[in-house]
Parts: sequence; C-alpha cells; structure tokens
Amino acid sequence: MTVDRFGALRTEYVNAPLARDSLAPDPAQQFTAWLDDAVAANLEEPNAFVLSTVGEDGAPSARTLLLKGLQPEGLVFYTNYRSRKAREIGTEPRVSALFLWLPLHRQVRIEGRVTKVDPETSDQYFASRPVDSRFASAASPQSDVVDEGQLEQLLDDLKARYPDGNVPRPAHWGGYCLEPSSYEFWQGREARFHDRFRYLKSGSDWRIDRLAP
Ligand SMILES: Cc1cc2nc3c(=O)[nH]c(=O)nc-3n(C[C@H](O)[C@H](O)[C@H](O)COP(=O)(O)O)c2cc1C
Repeated sequence: MTVDRFGALRTEYVNAPLARDSLAPDPAQQFTAWLDDAVAANLEEPNAFVLSTVGEDGAPSARTLLLKGLQPEGLVFYTNYRSRKAREIGTEPRVSALFLWLPLHRQVRIEGRVTKVDPETSDQYFASRPVDSRFASAASPQSDVVDEGQLEQLLDDLKARYPDGNVPRPAHWGGYCLEPSSYEFWQGREARFHDRFRYLKSGSDWRIDRLAP
C-alpha cells in the first residue's frame, strides 16, 4: 500500500494575510511586488516558472522557463521557435504560466496569449548573453531527437564558423511575450485557509475576486 506514502508530510503556512485592501489595482504591479519579494528572499531562480501549452490534439504539456523581462504588455521569455512549446504556441497561443515561491508559501497563476517579441528585442537579449549560452542556443535543435555526439559536433561546427565568438542570433531563436488575461495570487495561510485573489481583465480594467481555498 502506497496510499499514505506522503500523508504525514504537513507544513503549516503561517503568514501574514493577503488582504484585499493591500492588493495593487493593477495585477502587473502586484506581480512585480511579489517577484521583488522572491528576489529579496534570495530564492534560487526566483524568475523560474512553469509554462503550460496545449498541443493540436488537446493534450497539455509543461516545462520550466526563466522570465527574462517585463514589458507593459506582459511577461517575456526566450526559447527556440522550432521547439515543441513553440510548435504548440503556433497552433494555440493561449497558455498558462505558474510561478511557485515555495519558501514564501506563494503561487501565482497567469493565463493569457503569447506573441513573438520584435526581432530587435530578441537581438538585444541574445547579444547580452554569455558567449557559451549564445553558442549553445544557436547550435541546439531544441526538442529534436539527437544522436550521441551530434550536439557536440553541431557546437564544434558553429564555433569553427565563428572563431571570434560573434555568433549571430538564429532566426529560430527568440522571445515571446505573454499578455495576461487573468492572474491568481495565492498566499498560504494557517489551517489550509489560504488567501486567493483572482484578477480578470474586463475591457481595460481588472476585476478582483476572492476565491475559496
Ligand atoms: C530552471 C530551468 C530554467 C529553464 N529555462 C529555460 C528557458 O528560459 N528557455 C528554454 O527554452 N528552456 C528553458 N529550460 C528548459 C525547458 O524546461 C525545456 O526543457 C525546453 O525548453 C524544451 O521544452 P519543449 O520541448 O517543451 O519545447 C529551463 C529548464 C529549467 C529546469
């Protein structure tokens, strides 16, 4: 019997309440404040999140990514435009993003639509990356099945082509911007009476509702 394998693992979440009157009217502001708290708490990879996409057949898939920028329109991340996630975004641009800051007992769920950022923004970010990261992302056919040794060969070939290290951004690698249509902020509270607030976009305003835990 493995039913109770983790049944005894219980952490009490004793935190200050997330009160309605403390919420920023704009969820992007609330999100930035929580992200700043995660950075200030020295969490490892405070900008990591799980992006879920949906395939053509309706099956979901999820993977961890790093948030690299905040624009007025939304959240920016970078990846390979030929990867599985990119193919799925191509047919269904609605996605969900999940940030979990476990030591703070906080979670944020974001849903919205993804579009590519402009090539200049991708160029700028690509150029700002360490040289090894530039080579790695330019060489890797992300999500493809590869033979043993194939990646090393692709990397060596690319390095031989650009011995000065100035590998340009490939057209198949760049940024996406997730424009949120909803946010949910979750703060762990005592005795599992957690605080949840959801922001839903209505026109240019945001409606805020408390959700039951
Ligand atoms: C902490 C962490 C951060 C990651 N950051 C990124 C990222 O910013 N961009 C990216 O393309 N993959 C990133 N990855 C790898 C992805 O999780 C995933 O393996 C890859 O993007 C391929 O996903 P796909 O086949 O669903 O397209 C990260 C993985 C981890 C664990």
